[in-house]
Amino acid sequence: MSRAAVLIVEDDKIMRQSLADALEDEGYQVVAVAGGGEGAVALEQGEFGLVITDVRLPDVSGLAILKKARQIDPAIQVIVITGYGSIEDAVAAMRAGAFDYVTKPFDLEAMLLTVARAVEHHRLTQENIRLRRQVSTYFDTSAIIGDSPPMRRLYALLERVCRTDSTVLLLGESGTGKELVASTIHYQSDRRQGPFVAVNCAALPEGLIESELFGHEKGAFTGANARRAGRFELAHQGTIFLDEIGDVPLPTQVKLLRVLEERAFERVGGGETLEVDVRVVAATNKDLQAEVQAGRFREDLFYRLNVIPIELPPLRERAEDIPLLVDHFTARFNDRFGRRVRFSSGAVAALCRYGFPGNVRELINLVERAVALADGDTVELADLPPHVRGAKERVPLRPLAAVTAEAEQRHIQRILAFTGGNRTQAAKLLGISRKTLWEKMRLHGLEDQGRAETHRTT
Ligand SMILES: Nc1ncnc2c1ncn2[C@@H]1O[C@H](COP(=O)(O)OP(=O)(O)OP(=O)(O)O)[C@@H](O)[C@H]1O
Ligand SMILES: [Mg+2]
Repeated sequence: MSRAAVLIVEDDKIMRQSLADALEDEGYQVVAVAGGGEGAVALEQGEFGLVITDVRLPDVSGLAILKKARQIDPAIQVIVITGYGSIEDAVAAMRAGAFDYVTKPFDLEAMLLTVARAVEHHRLTQENIRLRRQVSTYFDTSAIIGDSPPMRRLYALLERVCRTDSTVLLLGESGTGKELVASTIHYQSDRRQGPFVAVNCAALPEGLIESELFGHEKGAFTGANARRAGRFELAHQGTIFLDEIGDVPLPTQVKLLRVLEERAFERVGGGETLEVDVRVVAATNKDLQAEVQAGRFREDLFYRLNVIPIELPPLRERAEDIPLLVDHFTARFNDRFGRRVRFSSGAVAALCRYGFPGNVRELINLVERAVALADGDTVELADLPPHVRGAKERVPLRPLAAVTAEAEQRHIQRILAFTGGNRTQAAKLLGISRKTLWEKMRLHGLEDQGRAETHRTT
């Protein structure tokens, strides 16, 4: 693109012409009109980056032109020309979103500088809008830290889940990030403009949970002095996050089932049936199937919720993410406490060995405590709480030879199964001699797996 097109709206012919000439000399594409009516038509037809308009025009005000321009394209910049001394016009224009104002009579050089700044501002605004659009179409999991294979699998699954509107059931131990993932699902889905409403079902006393979820009418029960909207109503066109779903009492489960099936419900004490458009994400750290077995959770509700189950891995199964998380949260608490603390490699190694029964939440608390209490700038192994410091190596370190031998054994077994025990074929597929194969089979205790062709009975 060459330079942005400029629209000039100015009734004074001499001023209009000289400004247009000057801008054209600078390489701008210029359209110059004498009145607001013509200006509006030009705006609708052309693509302008900048409008320069007189505030006082014979037909409409310059402010109306400004509003019209902004309405057509929010990136358009507007410079208003005000009469000498009419500061109120200038203030009103700036309030309405003008880029700048110049007072008559103006110095052409100064005007050209203002135009250059406005055009640059327009370019940046457009760029910004374009980038924001791009970002919102890419899948963004940057709030979730972790690069381990289980987390990568989680991201891939989330990306697909966000493109659907299906009910999701998040499973995982306490502190594994269920709430974080629930909000990610909402903000990465097409419902991101709608509300994300989280309800902690375990925190609500049995008597209140229904009114909390579905709302109530005035006088529905003692203390209900006004009609109140429930969480489902508030989540209309958005996502409702039913946390600790395993703690919902049985009578409420029936009503939840109906909402899931029909997206319809009544407020407590009300007869009117309300319909909502919500996506449901539920979470629990209970074993729901066991709860069903025990008669504490309705089986039909379980199946309604279990459309897309997502299991969040405990931290101990992705220990390679621990250094990343420690870094991330150390930076956060350094910021918050105005410190410059770091963890020594010995301390990080100890954290990687520790089992973290409280998962990421426990790690965050541990890092916060360490940063807040650190004597100097380094958290040493000795600064960690004893139960963390003393954690035993959980994954036994094995020499490479042991790992390769195991893989070799498994592979030979698989190939022999494939050839139906035919050693000649197996040796060929493995790219080794029959003799080497036989030796390896003996080494791995696989003698009885293969059969020499001469002994074949079939
Ligand atoms: N992968 C992660 N990356 C960054 N922060 C995380 C991650 N997982 C969890 N967190 C953070 O850890 C804390 C606990 O996570 P969250 O509340 O989502 O856990 P939860 O699974 O809902 O736990 P609970 O079952 O106890 O409610 C939150 O502050 C959350 O932001
Ligand atoms: Mg939670």
